[in-house]
Amino acid sequence: MTLATDHLTIVDHPLIQHKLTIMREKDTSTASFRRLLREISHLLAYEVTRDLPLTTKVIETPLAEIEAPTLAGKKMALISILRAGNGLMEGILDLIPAARVGFVGLYRDEETLQPVQYYFKVPETLEDRLVIVVDPMLATGNSSAAAVDLLKKAGATDIRFLCLLAAPEGVERMKAAHPDVPVVTAALDERLNEQGYIVPGLGDAGDRMFGTR
Ligand code: URA
Repeated sequence: MTLATDHLTIVDHPLIQHKLTIMREKDTSTASFRRLLREISHLLAYEVTRDLPLTTKVIETPLAEIEAPTLAGKKMALISILRAGNGLMEGILDLIPAARVGFVGLYRDEETLQPVQYYFKVPETLEDRLVIVVDPMLATGNSSAAAVDLLKKAGATDIRFLCLLAAPEGVERMKAAHPDVPVVTAALDERLNEQGYIVPGLGDAGDRMFGTR
């Protein structure tokens, strides 16, 4: 099932919820965490691209000539918010291998919780593309909103934000800063704690994905 408002879509599919539960468990190994994230990203990619425009082309099957559906060819850019965004990005690239890829490096100042930019490299001609920004955790929303600011400055006009878990605070922040950017997530959790972590959440997505802690 998919629960949607005009700004937020929660992809409430049983397979996603099951896999997400395993990811949340604190004793799940790095290898399993990474594999599950890749699997979930396939399912989320399905949802975030469900209204891509189609056209048709004439093909020949072994039995007949038909006019068959094919993507209309809107160009796409996938933008990973480093470093945890890479886990979602790789799975989406399995399904959309021709997408161009960009990276936005923002770290969160642990005291102010404000984003600080350290890297920005994105495809040219963002204005012509559907831009899908990926970051597993929409927590305070500060870095997500800042990344979208940067992408708009670089020309992007058609942007979607895809995450695995969202906190209500992050969703509100994104809606206030970028009401034109729909947010797609696998789950909306309860709240943020004082350190800006999502509760119940799954901990630090980057550390769990890369085994750095
Ligand atoms: N980033 C994470 O990796 N986890 C959180 O809970 C919040 C932000």
